[in-house]
Amino acid sequence: MSDRKDLVLVCNPKPNLLDRVRAKGFEAVSVFTAAAPAYAEPLSALVIEHAGDAGVVIGELNAAGLRERIAGVITHSEAALVLADELARRLGLPSNPARASAAAVDKSAMRAVLQGDERFAVANRMANDPGDVADMIALHGTVVVKPRDGAGSIGVRVLVDARKAADLDYPVLVEEYLEGPEYSVEALSVHGVHRILGVTEKFLFPGTVVESGHLFPARLTAAETAELTAFTVDFLDLLGVRLGVTHTELKLTPKGPRVIETHTRSGGDHIAKLVTLATGIDPIAESVTAATGGHPEFAARQTYWATTQYRAFEAGTVARVAGIDIARHMPGVNLVESALEPGLELHEAESSLDRPLGVVAIGRDPQEALDNANHALDQVLVDRT
Ligand SMILES: Nc1ncnc2c1ncn2[C@@H]1O[C@H](COP(=O)(O)OP(=O)(O)O)[C@@H](O)[C@H]1O
Ligand SMILES: [Mg+2]
Repeated sequence: MSDRKDLVLVCNPKPNLLDRVRAKGFEAVSVFTAAAPAYAEPLSALVIEHAGDAGVVIGELNAAGLRERIAGVITHSEAALVLADELARRLGLPSNPARASAAAVDKSAMRAVLQGDERFAVANRMANDPGDVADMIALHGTVVVKPRDGAGSIGVRVLVDARKAADLDYPVLVEEYLEGPEYSVEALSVHGVHRILGVTEKFLFPGTVVESGHLFPARLTAAETAELTAFTVDFLDLLGVRLGVTHTELKLTPKGPRVIETHTRSGGDHIAKLVTLATGIDPIAESVTAATGGHPEFAARQTYWATTQYRAFEAGTVARVAGIDIARHMPGVNLVESALEPGLELHEAESSLDRPLGVVAIGRDPQEALDNANHALDQVLVDRT
């Protein structure tokens, strides 16, 4: 059997990641924490499903005689971040240290790592009951409560009134409320060196903590961009991140940048695609090179702005939908995503799940990108019962 390192262990891959693995000259061994989706088998040299822990996966690699052929381990799935890092460490391949992946999947663990440093610290505690939340409100006025391991703004609430803490799903993480506009910094780390891909501007539905869109690159001065990126590089060092794509969410507060949360994977809402459309750099493809010990070579040529924009709808039931195909053919549109169909129950935006319509669009300046996305969204007409 060949000892050429021609395989990449890919955890919970979507088809776009399997495509990038093949484009970089490797075949995939696909590992799924649950049942494998149908697309995986034809695109993989081997599929391992219901992979509970690293030991099981390594046992299957040994049994198939493939272990020595694995060149790297990669995932862009939150549910597989810790598993992928453990696999890489046990196979002696490039990886992040355990504390970096732990901080990426557990917001309370991340706050603990930052606690000792005034530049990064954010007041926080785990609350077991409404009394704990009331104590934080007494200290800080406005607080944010959220699950320590949540996503998509599910269960995230801004609280100023301790009486509203009665019906929370305890235990919850409580943090001081950070004021200021919100951004994310996209980076690719290789052998512990963090290369900044750019800064993304985040949009929220008014009066909520639910993301309504993203614009890449953000409309910032050079000094603001430099401040956010320098802060993120130091933050990634503090966490011990060494490898792969990261998506770090921040607010630019009156006291300087502060981290909301980070991920040792690409951001949701098509942010990696925005980077590619705007700069020509494909973060997912380059993350394959980094995970296999290579040195990604890329230069940004920023010629476009790219945006994802979502629509949420008032409560009701969808009766009829028109205009999706027209939206797909509007200027600058790259992608239209729609879950709208007759019978769909609509809810006001409480989490990312309440956004049944989204568009990715580009433009030659930020306003043109935003206008292109919004004109496309405007083509979609929803009748409700
Ligand atoms: N400490 C905080 N101060 C101010 N806003 C916050 C804070 N924590 C979270 N938020 C708001 O809630 C949103 C979702 O919180 P986040 O921690 O990113 O959870 P999720 O993993 O669900 O995205 C953030 O994008 C931000 O708008
Ligand atoms: Mg978030």
